[in-house]
Amino acid sequence: MNSSMQRFAVAPMIDVTDRHFRFLARLLSRHTLLYTEMITTGAILHGQRERLLGFNAEEHPVALQLGGSDPAALRDSAQIAQAYGYDELNLNCGCPSDRVQSGAFGACLMATPALVRDCLRAMADGTDLAVTLKCRTGIDQQDSFDEFLHFIDTATDSPCRTVIVHARNAWLQGLSPKENREIPPLKYDWVYRLKSLRPQLTIVINGGIRTLAEAQQHLQHVDGVMVGREAWHNTYFLADVDALLFGDKQPPADRIAVTRRYAAYCEQQVALGVSLTALTKHLLGLWHNVPGSRQFRRHISENAHRKGATPRIIEEALAMVSHSTE
Ligand SMILES: Cc1cc2nc3c(=O)[nH]c(=O)nc-3n(C[C@H](O)[C@H](O)[C@H](O)COP(=O)(O)O)c2cc1C
Repeated sequence: MNSSMQRFAVAPMIDVTDRHFRFLARLLSRHTLLYTEMITTGAILHGQRERLLGFNAEEHPVALQLGGSDPAALRDSAQIAQAYGYDELNLNCGCPSDRVQSGAFGACLMATPALVRDCLRAMADGTDLAVTLKCRTGIDQQDSFDEFLHFIDTATDSPCRTVIVHARNAWLQGLSPKENREIPPLKYDWVYRLKSLRPQLTIVINGGIRTLAEAQQHLQHVDGVMVGREAWHNTYFLADVDALLFGDKQPPADRIAVTRRYAAYCEQQVALGVSLTALTKHLLGLWHNVPGSRQFRRHISENAHRKGATPRIIEEALAMVSHSTE
């Protein structure tokens, strides 16, 4: 994979970055790298594979994030993912939830760097896709940069050349996953230091980045920026990514036109049996903080779940904003 592809990415987010969200995000930005939700090896090997892994050709480039800690299961999952056409495979070493800890993967893997290395080697063994790692700056009260560096050095004693760092520790006890995205302090300087000490690695920074101006600042120090919640809550901000971060000369996508393209996509998906609410929930963040957006959101939220509702509710909702914006 071309390393400039890592310059800007939307973070993996469970219940958010499914194939429908990614389809919408791609209508806004041609260059952003998109990640799936974390999918466990157990689900891939024993679950409903097509439902979990299938995606639209329009979504490329798209990276699959795997959750797991058994090298053999990761190797097998990687091979299956390659057959589906993903562009990158990522290993989750950042998620602190109890559910994930009981499976001994996610952030708690940061305590066993040699196992992470073996997992990454196994993923690379199974495929010729780029294999990447997403981790934190450490776990619990661990506050040693050297320990963090040791983790990265051990993990990258493997074909993994790209590391995405959510720039705060994960506290494995006492905090919910949500609190774990807010309470442990951000340590951007550690990520910058990592890049300066290991310039051969592609380093992507994540955590608390809200604007493209901030992203540009980070890009002075590291190779890439990954944004999670802002892309979820304020999805239209992706429309400026191509021009500002990739020098693309095309004008930003028009919000109304994107909404209509997505409505047409909803028609197709509903005909295939996808529920309307699973599709329209992604539109709520597209219309954020502009005149009429509250009415737009309310119309969608109040109607999408009703019996007999169709994607026409999107056009109705659009009437509440289209004369007041753009
Ligand atoms: C709803 C939600 C679900 C998430 N699911 C995942 C996940 O599946 N895998 C993962 O590595 N991180 C997950 N994260 C963490 C994000 O990828 C990201 O690291 C974190 O939100 C910090 O970035 P932000 O401040 O830009 O949101 C999730 C975050 C949110 C808000």
